[in-house]
Amino acid sequence: PLLLILSLVGGYLLGSIPFGLVLTRLGGYGDIRKIGSGNIGATNVLRTGNKPLALATLLLDSGKGAIATLIALYLAGTEAGIAAAAGSMLGHSFPVWLGFKGGKGVATSLGVLLAISWPVGLAACGTWLLAAALFRISSLSALIAVGASPVVAWFLAGPAVAGLCLFIAALVYIRHKDNIARLLNGTEPKIGAKKKDAA
Ligand code: G3P
Repeated sequence: PLLLILSLVGGYLLGSIPFGLVLTRLGGYGDIRKIGSGNIGATNVLRTGNKPLALATLLLDSGKGAIATLIALYLAGTEAGIAAAAGSMLGHSFPVWLGFKGGKGVATSLGVLLAISWPVGLAACGTWLLAAALFRISSLSALIAVGASPVVAWFLAGPAVAGLCLFIAALVYIRHKDNIARLLNGTEPKIGAKKKDAA
């Protein structure tokens, strides 16, 4: 249990690094939380108009989840990997440094899933891309991809990873509460569209 707790805490600390916030500040855009949806993730960084910065946010937010998971996986096994994965999702979504107001966990979930079971990660990534090609809405694509992931994981990786996916899906849905409201009333912006008011 000590190893599991260490993995969870280590994952939390790595996951809590808010790359989107740091990169947009370094890029001279001020506080990303005052732009677009107010989120610190890659989709909202894209609303600055700076595509490389959005890509960097995606890669670093995914990368921190993947690294945390891989370290625990190799040092202490599958259960520790799953604990680190869950920890990094919690760290990204509720970082102590930002008063527990963090991101929505989509990029980070991709990283942890690729690390814990690459077929499940690839399937989630493919589902996101397919949904994005069809609907051109980032949040909707994420809700579809993580919503499907427990079922996909059950068949591709077994019950432990399916359980992790269920946890991730619950967290991502909770963090997309405002997006779900906008999707339902038809005001959720498409990918690449700029939105002025923070919501
Ligand atoms: O990655 C988060 C995405 O699903 C929604 O982001 O900024 O449109 O709320 P945003």
